[in-house]
Amino acid sequence: MRLYPESIENELKLLEPKLCDYLLTPSQPTNQIISHIIASGGKRIRPGLFLLCCDLIKYNGEHRFPIAAVCEYIHTASLLHDDVIDNSQERRGKPTVNSKWGDETAVLSGDLIYAAACRLMVKTASLDLIDTFAECIRLMSESELFQLELLWKASTSRSDYLRVISGKTACLFAAASQTPAFLGGQPADVSQALGAFGQSLGMAFQIADDCLDYTANQTDFGKPAVSDLFEGKVTLPLLIALESASHAQRQFVEEILEGAQTKTPENQSRLQDFVITRDGVANSYAFAETQLASAFLALEQLAKSGAQLDLATLDHLKNLAKFVLARNH
Ligand code: IPE
Ligand code: IPE
Ligand code: MG
Ligand code: MG
Repeated sequence: MRLYPESIENELKLLEPKLCDYLLTPSQPTNQIISHIIASGGKRIRPGLFLLCCDLIKYNGEHRFPIAAVCEYIHTASLLHDDVIDNSQERRGKPTVNSKWGDETAVLSGDLIYAAACRLMVKTASLDLIDTFAECIRLMSESELFQLELLWKASTSRSDYLRVISGKTACLFAAASQTPAFLGGQPADVSQALGAFGQSLGMAFQIADDCLDYTANQTDFGKPAVSDLFEGKVTLPLLIALESASHAQRQFVEEILEGAQTKTPENQSRLQDFVITRDGVANSYAFAETQLASAFLALEQLAKSGAQLDLATLDHLKNLAKFVLARNH
């Protein structure tokens, strides 16, 4: 089964040029930067999710298209800022904006995109929608700040990790799933169930991303693999592997966190071997499966709520949820 119905695939294709058009400025150099990041691809999973949820509750009004763009803009702006914070050099198989034009340009381009998203949201006149996205942007920033506090700390707990990913990633999946309910005038139980679905899906998405950091092929992934720990990030696969690590393995991880071991190909593969053989990746995927189960439960509750749903879309949403864990990029 395809990821999206044909109608949404077509809508996503039409969205591509619009994503640039909504952002164009009178300055050619700025437009070049915007098109570098927008035209670099990306899975467009957040607008896809938003459009599927619109279909699910049968919302086909005028705000579909601009708010699908808002979902991608908030994501894109957060990536521009994230790549500055992480000093990342590659994204979607291309040089990052910060590496090509500098941190100042990347930060300001992110601000420009956030502000453009705000103006599109205001046009809906839905305070619930504006508040949901505003809280999401606030929480993404709060969580990135919390992640900075945790950097280089082997003592990071599972609950710290879950708090970070809930804020930096899952809340935007929740907002993309929930806001169609506001546009479609749905009751609170429907918007809450959709939000819960997106939240769990987003948790699974980030856990998969953190597993791919240890397992992905760099060309598929579009960003350097085995990077998180060398950037100071202690993620779930590593946390789990550390629970059964030998003394030497624990010491090796501590040396990386202290900067005594650098990102050489040998150290990267030694780290990969450790995390994979101690079941850090397998058990993280197992935990992500429990998040998917929660996402499916939220959909079941929705189906039982008596809301008028497009049932064929339920299958597409389940399929998208499965893709989140099956993906290699
Ligand atoms: C990358 O998100 C950042 C995370 C939340 C892990 P995506 O994997 O959706 O990035 P693109 O848009 O497809 O490049
Ligand atoms: C995810 O953070 C990006 C945001 C949600 C802002 P990461 O730093 O873990 O993601 P990548 O690896 O750069 O895509
Ligand atoms: Mg990053
Ligand atoms: Mg980051």
